[in-house]
Amino acid sequence: MELFDVINKRFSNRKFLEKQIGNEDLDRILKAGMQAPVGRGRYEDMHITVIQDKNLLDEINKLVDRSVFYNAPTLVIISAKDDGHGLDKENSACVAMNMLLAATDLGLASIYLNLVIGLIKNSDILNKLNLPLGFVPIVGVGLGYADGSHITEHKIDVNYI
Ligand SMILES: Cc1cc2nc3c(=O)[nH]c(=O)nc-3n(C[C@H](O)[C@H](O)[C@H](O)COP(=O)(O)O)c2cc1C
Repeated sequence: MELFDVINKRFSNRKFLEKQIGNEDLDRILKAGMQAPVGRGRYEDMHITVIQDKNLLDEINKLVDRSVFYNAPTLVIISAKDDGHGLDKENSACVAMNMLLAATDLGLASIYLNLVIGLIKNSDILNKLNLPLGFVPIVGVGLGYADGSHITEHKIDVNYI
């Protein structure tokens, strides 16, 4: 797909089909995330966790009374180590954004997730992520197939000087 078509076709999908994504697509999405810009080139301060285990996804679902990842069959958690420059959130967002665009290009549905991170951090599930020492979950990305579509055009005010 042409880049601007991908940008315009990406949307936050909140209704996923049960169908799992293929390993080849997953691999391409992860690699796209790894190609993102990261402050000071500290890729070693970033970590990616792929959750497809139904039992663990069910456990995350049970943390609140609704699915905060919309039952996406693949939940990617981007974690980072704070290197003292406070770039962990920005770096994670860059990695996530590349993944969202890659997923769109592959005809998959995706969503950027913040709420699920707070819930995981405040529960036993944090230990189940097996993160290396010092890493903290920052951004979630839900991946799967869309049950419908709702692309909207957004506007942000611009001033020219
Ligand atoms: C930093 C950030 C956090 C977000 N967290 C959530 C979230 O926890 N749950 C959710 O449903 N959507 C979340 N979103 C998705 C936004 O609500 C969505 O991108 C926005 O409404 C625009 O819609 P679109 O992505 O379909 O274009 C988040 C997006 C960003 C960038």
